[in-house]
Amino acid sequence: MERLTLGAAEMGVLAHMMRKVELFSPLTVGQLEKVLPHVMLCSYAQGEKVFKRGSAGDAFYIIYKGKVDVRIRRLLLLWKKVASLGEGEFFGETALISDRPRSATVICAEPTLLFTLLASDFKFILHENPAAAEEMQSIATQRKFLTSHAK
Ligand code: CMP
Repeated sequence: MERLTLGAAEMGVLAHMMRKVELFSPLTVGQLEKVLPHVMLCSYAQGEKVFKRGSAGDAFYIIYKGKVDVRIRRLLLLWKKVASLGEGEFFGETALISDRPRSATVICAEPTLLFTLLASDFKFILHENPAAAEEMQSIATQRKFLTSHAK
């Protein structure tokens, strides 16, 4: 993983994604301005793990470019892919919302750029936006259900 500098173009894309994509739309300009400077842009190689199932959740991710696979271990050497996520989609919310370890391993299916928000900033956003918090909670519950029932 390599941390990149966020240029004006990426800042613009991120602000746009946070406004348009799913759940951050209720953010006021002021709230967005508070969070944006804390967002990191990180580059991952194909096959690189973002994190492992069972590890502590310390960040939330929005996919800027690329694709990730969400997977769980079935048997000692067997993996099951439970989802594939692409540009504009996000992951890593479940551990942060439930204060539990990561529910799955996330691995980059191709070279990938991720916007990364530390847990404290993610929680700040949800705290300021009850509607977003509710939507995030329901997405996390649904994903947890799907993953725990994956065969
Ligand atoms: P978290 O538990 O923090 O870490 C693993 C992440 O994978 C999880 O949050 C979700 O963001 C994501 N995830 C788990 N299961 C699914 C699923 N069925 N569909 C999409 N994303 C998932």
